[in-house]
Amino acid sequence: MSFPIVRHRRLRRTAAMRSMVRETVLNIEDLIQPVFISYGSGVKNEITSMPGVFQFSLDTLKPEIDEIVSLRIPAVLLFGIPESKDGIGSSGFADNGIVQEATRLIKSWYPDLMVIADTCLCEFTDHGHCGMVHTFERDGHTCGDVMNDESLELLARTAVSQAKAGADIIAPSNMMDGFVQAIRSALDDEGFEHIPIMSYSVKYASAFYGPFRDAADSAPQFGDRKTYQMDPANVREALREAESDVLEGADMLMVKPALAYLDIVRLLRDQFDLPLVTYNVSGEYSMVKAAAMQGWINEKAIVMEMLTGMKRAGSDMIITYFAKDAAGWIKDR
Ligand code: PBG
Repeated sequence: MSFPIVRHRRLRRTAAMRSMVRETVLNIEDLIQPVFISYGSGVKNEITSMPGVFQFSLDTLKPEIDEIVSLRIPAVLLFGIPESKDGIGSSGFADNGIVQEATRLIKSWYPDLMVIADTCLCEFTDHGHCGMVHTFERDGHTCGDVMNDESLELLARTAVSQAKAGADIIAPSNMMDGFVQAIRSALDDEGFEHIPIMSYSVKYASAFYGPFRDAADSAPQFGDRKTYQMDPANVREALREAESDVLEGADMLMVKPALAYLDIVRLLRDQFDLPLVTYNVSGEYSMVKAAAMQGWINEKAIVMEMLTGMKRAGSDMIITYFAKDAAGWIKDR
């Protein structure tokens, strides 16, 4: 008998053969494009740390949404940059808030495009934390505790105002305990029992969010988010977070960030049967862009490999700043 007995390379000989045995295929339907909406008019600001990503005002937004729709991307995730901020983030739940206005406008242009509203307070609070803060001085520094239960009511109001404006999916990212239940019951009370919750269930306190905080102007003014976002070292805790969200009525689970956490994606895929979302965050985008702009990597190949890896790990959907690029590449495949 000849050697080797097993020849794996038989199935790799041609592109056609490889495509027949391919186990994971990234589709345009898997992608969600984040969009930053700013107050004001005539705004189209490129984010310095995220080349190719812009803040748009309502009057400059249409071409961006047109492009997303023409690429057949099924959903956008909206973040807002409000004109004014205060201690409780009231511009986040105002009926004429920037996310609410953008939602109404986008749904009037394209009723079939899914609008997902990120439900958090950090873009709307003057202190930049994701909930209400009790501040105090310690050794001459301002410190603060983010108050859990007091914040839940504000988050619930934010979710209801987003649903009233026409959001199709509510995506709470604040990491307060009990936020899914609080939002679910508020939505139900207001007649939005049909609106699903995509919960940022497993959200780590990550340095990969740095560029986003430039984009959304949401960096905490003191302290950090480690008392509410998860420790990157923990995995069993991720199961507890996901389990409580399931019990509280989440319709979809999320893991964030993506690249350094694909073990968590796989774990949640194996342990839970809800649709699973992975967030390919700002810092992951910036790293790839920076290297690509230097000519050090092949951007298209790297992006498709990363997104395919996220899907292979178990994601049903991927939120990514590369959604438009990837959709174009998939179309031409
Ligand atoms: C709001 C929120 C953040 C991101 C999504 N929703 C920032 C944060 O928690 O600091 C980060 C997204 C990204 O980095 O792309 N809480």
